[in-house]
Amino acid sequence: MNKFTPAKPAGARSVDEITGSRRLRRMRKADWSRRLVQENRLSVDDLIWPIFIIDGENRREAIPAMPGVFRLSIDLAVKEAERAAKLGIPAIATFPNVEMGLRDQTGAHILEPDNLINRATRAFKAAVPEIGIITDVALDPFTSHGHDGILRGGTIVNDETVAQVAAAAVLQAAAGSDIIAPSDMMDGRIGAIRDALDDNGFQDVAIMSYATKFASAFYGPYREAIGTQGLLKGDKKTYYIDHANSDEAVREAEQDLAEGADMLMVKPGLPYLDIIRRLKDEFRVPTFAYQVSGEYSMIKAAGANGWIDGEKAMLESLLAFKRAGCDGILTYFAPEVAEMLKG
Ligand code: PBG
Repeated sequence: MNKFTPAKPAGARSVDEITGSRRLRRMRKADWSRRLVQENRLSVDDLIWPIFIIDGENRREAIPAMPGVFRLSIDLAVKEAERAAKLGIPAIATFPNVEMGLRDQTGAHILEPDNLINRATRAFKAAVPEIGIITDVALDPFTSHGHDGILRGGTIVNDETVAQVAAAAVLQAAAGSDIIAPSDMMDGRIGAIRDALDDNGFQDVAIMSYATKFASAFYGPYREAIGTQGLLKGDKKTYYIDHANSDEAVREAEQDLAEGADMLMVKPGLPYLDIIRRLKDEFRVPTFAYQVSGEYSMIKAAGANGWIDGEKAMLESLLAFKRAGCDGILTYFAPEVAEMLKG
């Protein structure tokens, strides 16, 4: 056995020689200095609260896969919107769970001016005009197959879907929606929606494009929330982006901005921070992330089991979006985190 003998004794060079006296721990030594050099902060102004709406009155249904999240009838949702406004949350995003009897092959009920989503918007605008309303225009809550587009012969047809989504966007704007958020990933939808809004006098209604929506496993609990879970056959890979791709996400965002999108969204959130950073660096436009249902449920479930500190993980995940370059975050944690930030 020949034992290795170091040429120099360990620690021959001092740490100050190694680092050139640059010690990054200096600024981390106390709470006051950490606060002083903190680069990013989360504020209530960063939050958009997605809420689920059902028909009826005084109804509050738990969603088992999303502990702490409920489907609410419009009257109760309005109360929650009032609470959100008091907390300073700038906007809410509404998602309807439409009665099964009203869903069909083409999602035609989205064109009913008095459907659940539009009635909810009117109620919010009448009771809480100071909060922003963002409406999703995809067909999935309205189709009997749970896809975001019109299904013909096994194919989600693009152009017919775009025409229907653009018409639905006008009805949503007429109901009072401030921001139209198309989440279907059809080609040409942003330009078609912009034209339709402008032709109908809704120049001031903005478009938040779900520009880069990835085919993802993280939407599972949402599908339970809006009742598309049992309906969906196959997957959404012919219209959502392959989650292996990043350049394609940049192209999608570029196209949507050229067609008139005012704001970009990346969805899901945490697994796609690289995309957020790329889009912010490339385009410098208002950029948002959707921390989706599966991300919420993972944190909640691990927290409930005592495997992680759920509150700390929630705050850390939200701050990560800010660090990645987000201007705001759609998150089911919105009221909980707003309460914490206030306290
Ligand atoms: C579809 C839509 C999805 C979500 C919102 N709108 C994805 C899907 O069901 O495929 C997901 C939101 C979430 O998971 O929180 N237009």
